[in-house]
Amino acid sequence: MIGWRLECANRNREPPVIVEIQNLRKTYAGGFEALKGVDLGIKEGEILALLGPNGAGKTTLISTICGITSPTSGSVSVGGHDVVKDYRAARSMIGLVPQEINLEPFNKVVDVVSYSRGLFGKKADPAKIESILRQLSLWDKKDSRVMELSGGMKRRVLIAKALSHEPRVLFLDEPTAGVDVELRKDMWEVVGQLKEQGVTIILTTHYIEEAEAIADRVGVINGGELLLIEEKAELMGRLGQKTLQVDLQSPINEVPASLSKYALEIVEDGLALRYTYDTQGAGTGITRLLSDLSAAGLVMKDLQTQQSSLEDIFVGLVKESAA
Ligand SMILES: Nc1ncnc2c1ncn2[C@@H]1O[C@H](COP(=O)(O)OP(=O)(O)O)[C@@H](O)[C@H]1O
Ligand SMILES: [Mg+2]
Repeated sequence: MIGWRLECANRNREPPVIVEIQNLRKTYAGGFEALKGVDLGIKEGEILALLGPNGAGKTTLISTICGITSPTSGSVSVGGHDVVKDYRAARSMIGLVPQEINLEPFNKVVDVVSYSRGLFGKKADPAKIESILRQLSLWDKKDSRVMELSGGMKRRVLIAKALSHEPRVLFLDEPTAGVDVELRKDMWEVVGQLKEQGVTIILTTHYIEEAEAIADRVGVINGGELLLIEEKAELMGRLGQKTLQVDLQSPINEVPASLSKYALEIVEDGLALRYTYDTQGAGTGITRLLSDLSAAGLVMKDLQTQQSSLEDIFVGLVKESAA
C-alpha cells in the first residue's frame, strides 16, 4: 500500500528545477537596465525557448546564468550552486553555445573539442569526444581545420565544444539565426536527441516557428522583462481558437438568455457579439449559433472570423510592453 502511494506521488511530481533565477537585474556600466527583475525556474529535462526581439535581453540573461556577466542584483543557481559564489561548480554543469562563432580558424575540429573538455578539468576521454562528434555528424571532419568548414558545420563544432565536458544544461543563443531552413531542421533534430539523453536545453530565438517546432515551454522576453512563460501545448491550444464576430443591425445591452450557452461577449459598444470556438473540436457550433441568433430576434449585418496565433500573442505582448 505504501509502495503504491509512493508510486502515485512520483507520477504526479513535477520535474525538479535545475536553474533557479530570482529577481535578476542587470544594469550595464553605462546605466542601461537590460534585465529588470527576472524570475524563472527551468525544469530539468525540458526544452525552453526564450523568444524575443533584438535587444530584448536574451543574451544578457544567458550570459548572467553562465557567469560571463555579473548580476547587479538577484540570484541565479544551477543545480543548487550559486553562479557567483560557487562559480566553478555551477559552470561545470553548463554548456554554452554563443551567438557569435568564436573559433580559431587554424585549429582542428577534434582538438577544439578535446581542449575545451580539458578547460573544465575533466580527464581526456577520446571515446566520449568521438561519440559527441559522431552525434553532430562531424566525425569525418575531425581532422579538418575550422576555416575549411561551412557555416552550418562551424555551428555544430560550437555545440560539440559546449558538450565536451558533459554538461547537464545546454544554452543555445540564437542557434539558427541566419541559417537556412534545411540546416535549421538539422539543428532541431540534434536538440531533440540531446533532450532524449536527459540534457536540459534553453535556446533563445526570434523565430516564432522555431519555438513552435521544438520547445516544451515558451518564454517571451522584451525590454528586460519576462512577459509570459507557458507550456507550448497550452499556447497551441489557444492557437487552435478562432473568434467569430457577428455585427448587429442595432445595439444590445445584454445577451438574450436563450444564447447563454455560447458564452458570447458583447463588443463594439453593443453593436457586435464575439463567439470563441475551437477549430480542433468536433463541431464549431456556428450553424446553430446563427440560427439561434435569428430565433432570438437579432438581425445580423456582417460576419468576420479571426484566428489567434502565437504570432498574435507575441506581437501583442511585445507591443504592450513597449508602450
Ligand atoms: N556590454 C553592454 N553594455 C551596455 N549595454 C549593453 C551591453 N550588452 C548589451 N547591452 C544592451 O542591453 C540590451 C539587451 O541586449 P542583449 O541581451 O544582447 O539582447 P538580445 O540578445 O535579446 O538581442 C540591448 O539594448 C543592448 O544594447
Ligand atoms: Mg542576443
